[in-house]
Amino acid sequence: MKIAAMVGSNRKDSYNRQLTSFMQKRYDGKLDIEILPIDQLPFYNQDEELNPPQIVEDLRKIIKESDGILIATPEYNGSISGMLKNALDWFSRVDQVMVNKPAMVVGASMGGLGTVKAQLQLRQILNAPGIGTLTLPGNEVYIGSVHEKIDEDGNLKDEETINFLDNVVDNFINWTEKTKVYS
Ligand code: FNR
Repeated sequence: MKIAAMVGSNRKDSYNRQLTSFMQKRYDGKLDIEILPIDQLPFYNQDEELNPPQIVEDLRKIIKESDGILIATPEYNGSISGMLKNALDWFSRVDQVMVNKPAMVVGASMGGLGTVKAQLQLRQILNAPGIGTLTLPGNEVYIGSVHEKIDEDGNLKDEETINFLDNVVDNFINWTEKTKVYS
């Protein structure tokens, strides 16, 4: 299953990027996760949307050809990062490549709530008509105190969190197989 992944942080040591890389390794064979370089996208500009920069076309194509989407979001001031919103705005226009794609949303923070506010807003954004990305109700991943759950090589080391993530990924795969009917 081909998965186009977006990480909403451009920080070198981003926990959300480490989490996504861990998922790439752990679910290899089940999921073929490609992390899109959304940090390279220019600011969205409606004047350019019919003739966008090449990277926009390239990333749209990868999303179009994917079976699903993975979004790993940090929480910035109770919401998603501007970088992630910028990418979603680009992908919401013209081709609307995210419409009817199944998405899995995860998020990690050092605080206790594990990006819950950001993810609530993200799910609302994914419901916008131009985005129209589907998420499985209840299949949610909030990783709080992430600095205590990741080792120095960037791998999740907390067994309970890993087991939970395994379960959510299996749910996502089973459901994505069924949602193919909408695409
Ligand atoms: C944060 N952080 C943060 N954390 C949180 O739990 N709730 C919040 O509202 C915010 N707000 C916030 C705003 C800004 C501008 C920054 C830079 C940071 C802390 C944030 O969760 C922490 O830096 C994470 O490590 C960011 O994710 P990555 O970069 O590790 O993936």
